[in-house]
Amino acid sequence: MNGKGKQLIIQEVGPRDGLQNEAVFVPTSEKVAFVDQLSACGFKKIEVTSFTSPRAIPALKDAAEVMQQIRRYPGVTYCALVPNVKGTERALEAQTDEVNFVMSASHSHNLENLGMTREDSLKQLGDITRALEGTDCQLSVSLSTVFGCAMEGPVASAEVERLVEQLVQLGVQQISLCDTAGMAHPAQVTALGRLFLQTWPEIAFTMHFHDTRGMGLANVLAALQVGVRRFDASVGGLGGCPYSPGASGNICTEDLVHMLNLMGYDTGIDLEQLLQVARSLPELIDRQPPGYLIKAGPV
Ligand code: COA
Ligand code: ZN
Repeated sequence: MNGKGKQLIIQEVGPRDGLQNEAVFVPTSEKVAFVDQLSACGFKKIEVTSFTSPRAIPALKDAAEVMQQIRRYPGVTYCALVPNVKGTERALEAQTDEVNFVMSASHSHNLENLGMTREDSLKQLGDITRALEGTDCQLSVSLSTVFGCAMEGPVASAEVERLVEQLVQLGVQQISLCDTAGMAHPAQVTALGRLFLQTWPEIAFTMHFHDTRGMGLANVLAALQVGVRRFDASVGGLGGCPYSPGASGNICTEDLVHMLNLMGYDTGIDLEQLLQVARSLPELIDRQPPGYLIKAGPV
């Protein structure tokens, strides 16, 4: 597969998906510096934090301060995860460029992670679209457990299709298909990727893989083959959902960019600068992150 000159969009989610799961509380000023360093790497979109209940996600209880203190680089969209209208209102107050509404494809994970049914989540989303009217804030949706649920096992693709159609009916134009539990495999990604891209060609789909079972980059290749052009990834391979048992990190951004560079794709990301951020992670989170490239170096 030759990616020569083809442009891809890599969205950095480490400050949110990564830090939400760390045992240590990263001080606000260090979170801000982390995001600022990532901004200098050339990302088009960075998920900065989440406006969630501080009881549910204590690691990100300083979301408003972080969002207000980061340096805004021109051309970078600074987004934040929100579970409900309250989170959206907080995000708007903090001048967030885009809210990324989260809900799950599976009933059990939605209930566990968000304390509500999927129907209630969809009601929240309806209220959120109204709250965003007349503002400059964009909307995206992250649909969790699309490729399998740690509690329910396989998730029927008809169920995912039904939910995506409901999102589209509510006016959503950007959807991340999330492998929260790291259960996706390449044949599944090919089948689902083809189905979604053909059924809703007007929607910007992102694939969000976790490397829980070592299939993360293989899944990216499968997605590329069917035309997916946007991926979430986390510097150092940080990440995981505290409400998905056994979940581990996202695919590692520098490992991903390195592979895509070798294949000729254009990600617009400065790998050397990104590696510098990755090398600073042990100090930030008090542990060695799982990524490969910081240990082996680029080829
Ligand atoms: N931001 C801050 N506080 C919030 C909030 C938000 N977005 N949403 C609700 N709260 C507060 C309420 O005001 C209430 O506060 P009080 O007890 O001081 O009155 C408290 O949280 C409970 O509210 P309730 O509506 O009963 O929510 P809940 O306890 O059932 O929690 C969520 C529901 C959705 C807020 C919570 O489960 C959550 O934030 N989940 C996010 C999970 C997540 O991010 N997972 C990882 C990403 S995949
Ligand atoms: Zn995730």
